[in-house]
Amino acid sequence: MEVRSVTCSAPVNIAVVKYWGKRDEELILPVNSSLSVTLSQEHLKATTSIAVSESFERNRIWLNGREESIENPRLQKCLKLFEEIAPIPGHVHICSENNFPTAAGLASSAAGYACLVYAFAALYEKKHELHERGDLSRIARQGSGSACRSMFGGFVKWEMGSEPSGSDSIAIQVAPETHWPDMRILILVVSDQKKSTSSTSGMQRTVETSKLLEYRATSVVPERMRQMEEAIQSKNYVEFAELTMKDSNQFHAVCLDTYPPITYLNDTSKKVIQFITRYNQYKGVTTAAYTFDAGPNAVLYLENKSVHEILSLLKYYFWPLLENGNNSFVKGIPVECENPSKELLSAIGMDRSPGEIQYIIHTKPGPGPQLLDQSQSLLTPEGYPRFSQAVD
Ligand code: DP6
Repeated sequence: MEVRSVTCSAPVNIAVVKYWGKRDEELILPVNSSLSVTLSQEHLKATTSIAVSESFERNRIWLNGREESIENPRLQKCLKLFEEIAPIPGHVHICSENNFPTAAGLASSAAGYACLVYAFAALYEKKHELHERGDLSRIARQGSGSACRSMFGGFVKWEMGSEPSGSDSIAIQVAPETHWPDMRILILVVSDQKKSTSSTSGMQRTVETSKLLEYRATSVVPERMRQMEEAIQSKNYVEFAELTMKDSNQFHAVCLDTYPPITYLNDTSKKVIQFITRYNQYKGVTTAAYTFDAGPNAVLYLENKSVHEILSLLKYYFWPLLENGNNSFVKGIPVECENPSKELLSAIGMDRSPGEIQYIIHTKPGPGPQLLDQSQSLLTPEGYPRFSQAVD
C-alpha cells in the first residue's frame, strides 16, 4: 500500500514582547499581543517527517528518538483541526527531533508545533492556501501559543485579536530576516534541566491570581507593541534593546505577582542581568539586551559589532576552562575571544562565577519553516523511524 510522506524544518522564536496569559484556554487566545524574533535554523530547529498510509494500524508519534503517546490533548487538537480541513486517508506516523536540548526553556514546543503544522499543510499540498487564510497560524497556536510566531521568519507579531472565535488572533510578519543584518543573538545556556513550572500551568495561575497581569495587558503592552514595531522598522537598536529588557523584567515581575509565586530566574540569571546593566553603564549607551523566558537561560540581543567584546567578557566571568584555550564554550557562528582588558574588568567590577554558564549559542535572525527533500526524511520509505530501537 502507498506511503506518502513529507519532511519539514521549523525555527525557534524568542519573544521581545512576551505572551503570558490566555483569555480562552480552549482556543489558546492570549490576553495581550506579543512580538518575537525567529532564529536561524542553522543552529536551532525542529525537523518533522509525517507519513500517511492506509497500511498503518494507528496514529503514532516519535519525539527525539522515543515513541510518545499520541493521546497528548494539544496534539489531538491539531490532528482534529487538520482532519476538518482534509480527511486523512488511513493513519499517520510522525517523527520529530530538535537539534537542541528539549525543555531547556528554548521554546522547543513552538518549533515542534510550527513544524508539525507546516508538514501537514505540505502533505495536503495546501501550504499556500492555508497560509493566506491564516489557518496555519490558527492551528499552530492551538498546539502551543508561541508556535504561531514560528510560522514566519524575521520579526513576527502575534495579534491578540478580538473575535471570540479567534479568527483574528494570528501571527503576522513585521519584517523579514534580511531586514536587520547586524542583529545577533546569544543564547546563554545556564541549565538544560527541565523547567519547574510549565508555561501552560504557570500562565494559568497568573491569570487567576495576578492583578499586575491585568495592568500589563491593558495599560502597558498595547503601547509597547507600537514602540517595538517602530524600533524594528527604523532599526533603532537602543530603543529595541530597552523595550526588550523592560518587557522581560515585567514578565518576571508578573510571575512573582502570581500566587503562589513563580520564579524562573536563578542566581546566574541575576548575575547576567547585573553584568549587562554594568556593561551598558560602562559603554554609556545601551549595547546589549537580555531577555528570559520560562527558565533561567538568558537570551541576549546585540549588534554584530558588540559580539566579540561581550563574548570575551562572558567567557572570562562564566566559563571554567578559559586558560586551556578550549573553544567549545561558543557554538554557532564562530567568534575569536580574547582576555578582556583590566580597565574593562575593573569597570564591570564583578566576581567570576566559573562554570555557571554551560555554553553559548551564537546565532542571528532566520527564515520561517522549510520544506526539505526526501533524503532528509526521519522516516524510512515504509514510514518507520530511521533509528532502529523504536521500530517494532
Ligand atoms: C515565556 O507558547 O509555551 O516563552 O500556549 O501554553 O503552550 P502555551 O505556552 P507557550 O508560552 C510561551 C511563553 C514565553 C513567552 C513567549 O514566548 O512569548
